[in-house]
Amino acid sequence: MDDHHIEQAWQFYRKLGSPKFICAPMVDQSELAFRMLTRKYGTTLAYTPMLNSKIMVESKTFKDEFFTTCPEDRPLFAQLCGHNPQILIKAALMIQDECDAIDINLGCPQGIARKGLYGSYLLEKRELVLTIVKELKQNINIPVTCKIRIFKDIKRTLDLTKDIQQSGCSILTVHGRTKEQNKDLVGQCDWNIIAQIKQLLQIPVFANGGIYTWSDVERCLQETKADAVMSSEALLENPALFSGQIKDLNELAIEYMQFAKQYNAKLPEIKAHLFKLLYTSLQVHTDLRSKLGSAKTYDQHLDIVIQLNRLRAHIPLENKFGWYKRYQNFKQPQPKDKDIQKLENIIKQQDLSLQNNNQE
Ligand SMILES: Cc1cc2nc3c(=O)[nH]c(=O)nc-3n(C[C@H](O)[C@H](O)[C@H](O)COP(=O)(O)O)c2cc1C
Repeated sequence: MDDHHIEQAWQFYRKLGSPKFICAPMVDQSELAFRMLTRKYGTTLAYTPMLNSKIMVESKTFKDEFFTTCPEDRPLFAQLCGHNPQILIKAALMIQDECDAIDINLGCPQGIARKGLYGSYLLEKRELVLTIVKELKQNINIPVTCKIRIFKDIKRTLDLTKDIQQSGCSILTVHGRTKEQNKDLVGQCDWNIIAQIKQLLQIPVFANGGIYTWSDVERCLQETKADAVMSSEALLENPALFSGQIKDLNELAIEYMQFAKQYNAKLPEIKAHLFKLLYTSLQVHTDLRSKLGSAKTYDQHLDIVIQLNRLRAHIPLENKFGWYKRYQNFKQPQPKDKDIQKLENIIKQQDLSLQNNNQE
């Protein structure tokens, strides 16, 4: 491998401050407001939601509507999807001055990605992937990074990651699941293959998948030796995940609403965030869940958050990590887990204050 490329990749990573805690690209969910909230609580690098390169190039309004950032929103990687190298280059040129790297989506498993030939379906087209990485690297002035899923065949996965590095990719994120491990088949994430890829490659490698608590973050770094950990679903449920502390989710929801106002989050983004942030409380206060479903304005959404906060909604223990685990076959965490103990203490305190309020 070209030593110069490897050295450049590390210089780039170090220039960003060697970030370890990464907010994943998430359609409709890693928007500016959410990124800023997670940055406040320990995220050291964030990705935009996936942006469709063809739509961005063809539409006059798409870029301004869907690529929003601000000077404090750094370091920032913008993720593109698509399979046409020329279109990807054009789209990257439109945004390269406002982000630190262009990431290529090689992991999306959805039907729409099959139709559009991008994400994990593009990953199957080895030559095209390598051409895209090379062409982008040659034609834009910021680094190119990739986010992949794994294949069932370990050797095929390892060979491809080596080729991607060789083509000029500066950072590789590995989601340790195959494209078939999706929705209710999501199952366990394979950290072992991530560890093998980290050992094989010379560029920085980020581990993604299976993060659920702060202790998972620490364990994942230890077990994979990856340079950073990227989280998606657990971060949606707890935007303060990377702070290593347990925060009150109702209060985080209020803070999110402040960021949403400040950074003009769209109503569907706000609604989707609140359903995840307040998942456990809304399982108890089902009337407010229905109200949230039909809320049509920012103020209506805010009103529900405030009402829940006033109620200091009681979170039943068995539901405490509800949303992330809603269809995952994870084992329940051991009772000794220190995060669980902290949470139990918070719930006990909430119980006490509820009892006190009832007595008053
Ligand atoms: C709401 C949502 C939107 C997502 N959108 C994207 C996306 O735009 N680009 C991408 O590469 N992955 C996307 N993903 C996948 C995540 O980035 C991540 O790879 C996956 O959820 C596994 O990480 P986790 O176990 O921490 O959730 C999305 C996931 C979720 C839950």
